[in-house]
Amino acid sequence: MPSRGGWRTVMEKGYGGKTMADAAERVTLTEAEIAVHWREEEYYHPSPEFIGQAYLTDRSRYERFSLDHFPDCFKEYADLLDWYKYWDVTLDTSNPPFWRWFVGGRLNAAHNCVDRHLARHRNKTAFHFVPEPENEPIQHVTYQELYNRVNEFAALLRDFAGVRRGDRVTIHMPMVVELPIAMLACARLGAMHSVVFGGFSGKACADRMVDAESRVLVTMDGYYRNGEFLDHKAKADVAVREAAAQGLAVERVLVWQRYPGRYSSPTPLVEGRDFVVNEILPRFRGRRVDPEPMPAEDPLFLMYTSGSTGRPKGAQHSTGGYLAYVAGTSKYYLDIHPEDVYWCMADIGWITGHSYIVYGPLALGASSVLYEGQPAYPDPGRPWRIAEELGVNIFHTSPTAIRALRKAGPEEPKKYGHRFKLMTTVGEPIEPDVWRWYYHVVGKGQAAVVDTWWQTETGGFLCTTAPAIHPMKPGSAGPAVLGIHPVILDEEGHEVPAGSGKAGNICIRNPWPGMMQTIWRDPERFIQTYFAKYNRDPQSKDWRDWPYFAGDGAMQASDGYFRILGRIDDVINVAGHRLGTKEIENAALGVPEVAEAAVVAVRDEVKGIMPELYVALHPGHRESEDLKQRIVDRVAQEISPIAKPRRVVVVPDMPKTRSGKIMRRILAAISNGFEDVGDVTTLSNPEVVDEIRRLVGSLKS
Ligand code: WT7
Repeated sequence: MPSRGGWRTVMEKGYGGKTMADAAERVTLTEAEIAVHWREEEYYHPSPEFIGQAYLTDRSRYERFSLDHFPDCFKEYADLLDWYKYWDVTLDTSNPPFWRWFVGGRLNAAHNCVDRHLARHRNKTAFHFVPEPENEPIQHVTYQELYNRVNEFAALLRDFAGVRRGDRVTIHMPMVVELPIAMLACARLGAMHSVVFGGFSGKACADRMVDAESRVLVTMDGYYRNGEFLDHKAKADVAVREAAAQGLAVERVLVWQRYPGRYSSPTPLVEGRDFVVNEILPRFRGRRVDPEPMPAEDPLFLMYTSGSTGRPKGAQHSTGGYLAYVAGTSKYYLDIHPEDVYWCMADIGWITGHSYIVYGPLALGASSVLYEGQPAYPDPGRPWRIAEELGVNIFHTSPTAIRALRKAGPEEPKKYGHRFKLMTTVGEPIEPDVWRWYYHVVGKGQAAVVDTWWQTETGGFLCTTAPAIHPMKPGSAGPAVLGIHPVILDEEGHEVPAGSGKAGNICIRNPWPGMMQTIWRDPERFIQTYFAKYNRDPQSKDWRDWPYFAGDGAMQASDGYFRILGRIDDVINVAGHRLGTKEIENAALGVPEVAEAAVVAVRDEVKGIMPELYVALHPGHRESEDLKQRIVDRVAQEISPIAKPRRVVVVPDMPKTRSGKIMRRILAAISNGFEDVGDVTTLSNPEVVDEIRRLVGSLKS
């Protein structure tokens, strides 16, 4: 456990004054604590073999993407795509901050990801689907087969489920090849998909369906996770019921079978509402659906993400700008060549999977691995066996997965003959020590490693080294990617200079094509969340007055590399999954005995961060194991098991300011075992701090 100080000390040095204290109060202490205690690390250099074959080796390309060439530089990315009609205006900034890219252009994402590859890569594998049970055969789905299946499912969506251009289709599915098929079928029709992470509960799915007003839910009967066959259809019933309670009638539930021809869920089908896709598909055998020529600025999908209120927000991504951006960044930073085999272990239900399993790699005509299950199932050698068997040479995963695989089998990768040219880490800060294990043991000292910093909102990478150009530095994401111009601002909006050793809020100065268009049906929240803080003139039509506020603390070293310290809002990153503390608190408050709830982030050896939940009970109720279990279950049920608090601490009273605000900072310090909890003079009940400390000290972790 690092000593107290860290992020807050840096903030104090960097900011000073009252606003600092306020910002520090909201910060997820722990993530930042570790980050700031990292010393400057030594550089690692890519191998000559890697450089010899890489796409991005020419430093002058960065010059071509400088602000002098903005926004036309992004034509280079858009030119990676097929357009039915070329655009007239590269960037329309007439309605800040609602930027419009490639205006007047028309394209279709499914055509770009599938159809156009048939001429040269008809028989190439698009996806190697690897089921979790190791005795089930791997399915190699070619571009031809993907084309057939996307067309047939698009026909089914249109003619059987009545899906039209502009409709929203919610897809709540596990990691199976039918998931990208369903997404691409929507894209083909010009319908927006809203994919909900399969591990999310039926209730969480319903909340997102209601917000998106989806009449159609695409799901699956069941799937494997950690050796268990899970009943997934049961969640659809909950989702439809919950949606109805919130006023949305779901008309069609389309259920794929994990084993075609066999319905594998104990949950019965509801007559007239639920339909087994595999039974209806034969009616559409051989059917072809013309791809809809979509305006570049029409939305491609919604991806819900957590913010600082309890209500998830639908990040709306465009067709042209988004696809161009993920294609370009996949090419230059993942370095995916036609002969490579690429494996991203993320879940398609998150933005990483959308951008870097589905749209980016497919736009480049790549061969990808799509793995159903838990990385370490049945043992921590599994990923390396899959990589060896399929010849994977580009590997993409998160610090949490790396930490878990290292813990379970630190020597395991040495037993296998896989050979990676490039590896990616994404989603959370990676500790240098973990980075080095990844580099030396998983990558055998031969692979270039990119640490890519970005967000659901940003569509694609913002900061990372260019693998053949910039040396790697463990724990730092690196400089900005092509065409992205970050700046670190202090609370007053002044620039924090590189190499100053001070932290601040990382922002992006300029618009870029992968940036979300808006929050679905909530443009005001879009402005408030991402722009209001640093925009000085709401009337300004100049994009320079609208820096994008990312919500992360960061420092820039004198070499220009950015080190991301973690969220400064009420968002926590649990095992790389983004959760709002408010969502967890709201779930806990659903238990009748609970009067108040406060979630704090606690450092965890494997998951990076875990939520810990403090609750105060209504008078007349007492703490019991049963009550704590009910609270934990409620969180799992309302959100997902990934949101389960590590511990529930029942306190007599929350530490509160005189105005009644719960001081989460104090609870976080106690949970993380810090000696000093900071200033308690503003509390109305300072005596409760020692009491809580004693209470927590007496608990088993
Ligand atoms: C938050 C975004 C990026 C796609 C997956 C997560 C954190 C992301 C890094 C990184 C340190 C990182 C940030 C960011 N984050 N990548 N390389 N180093 N932190 O997308 O769920 O929208 O979460 O993840 O805090 O704001 P997301």
